Amino acid sequence: MNYENILTSFQNGITTITINRPNKLNALNKATINELHDAFKSADADKNTKVIIVTGSGEKAFVAGADISEFADFNEAEGEELARKGQALLFDFVENLSTPVIAAVNGFALGGGLELAMACHFRVASDNAKMGLPETSLGLIPGYGGTQRLPQLVGKGRAMEIIMTAGMIDANKALSFGLVNHVTTREDLLTLCESIAGKITRNSSVAIGTAIKAINAHYKAGVNGFEVEIEAFGDSFGTEDFVEGTSAFLEKRRAEFPGE
Ligand code: COA
Repeated sequence: MNYENILTSFQNGITTITINRPNKLNALNKATINELHDAFKSADADKNTKVIIVTGSGEKAFVAGADISEFADFNEAEGEELARKGQALLFDFVENLSTPVIAAVNGFALGGGLELAMACHFRVASDNAKMGLPETSLGLIPGYGGTQRLPQLVGKGRAMEIIMTAGMIDANKALSFGLVNHVTTREDLLTLCESIAGKITRNSSVAIGTAIKAINAHYKAGVNGFEVEIEAFGDSFGTEDFVEGTSAFLEKRRAEFPGE
């Protein structure tokens, strides 16, 4: 697929996906969501990609939300379809990938932008980043998982306040809320993400994919996360990565995981 709205690059086991509509502050229109789906799917299927980083182009924004111009005349059914399709193609899709996804939040992450960052496995922000879910100021509610993932990350009361006020919080407040894991300068943002990604690439990609599944199980209604963990733990003993990891430890050498 040829992309018009995103850029992708690959280096040292890391695929970086950059949303590239800086003149629209990287707002997520339908075409961009489709391209992101394709790019995440391809990167996840690529055995050489051990970590995915997603960021925004330009100096101002990660993503300033869903593209308001695309849904301004929608009716109820179209609105529901927008949320349903978007969640399936991008937000739930990213959260459930077995390849770790880091959001490098390099500026405004608003509405669908913060929802995309929250669907990633964790977030690192630059010190100019501003985050919020401003949908209630548009007569809407968050529709790409924001009402569910924000309380998971920051707690119910803070999520209520952020959504009700439609305000923005800065990077340091997001850090203190646990919404992002680290804050650094804009210049150092990708380097820090790559350095964290580098630590991840040394470990078993099979085990990491399984850990993502077990952690996500905690947040799925009707699923017993402890049971998922027990079964997945057992399955780990049947992998080549387990054989390599334990052999390398006993032989006092660094593991070279086959990823199988
Ligand atoms: N959808 C569509 N276009 C958007 C957009 C969005 N969510 N966010 C920004 N843009 C566009 C603007 O319309 C403008 O386009 P134009 O130059 O063709 O007029 C361009 O991006 C630059 O935005 P602008 O508002 O001029 O930048 P700013 O620095 O003055 O303000 C924001 C930045 C983020 C505060 C402001 O753009 C904003 O409030 N955006 C909407 C945020 C939002 O409500 N998101 C949730 C959507 S559900």
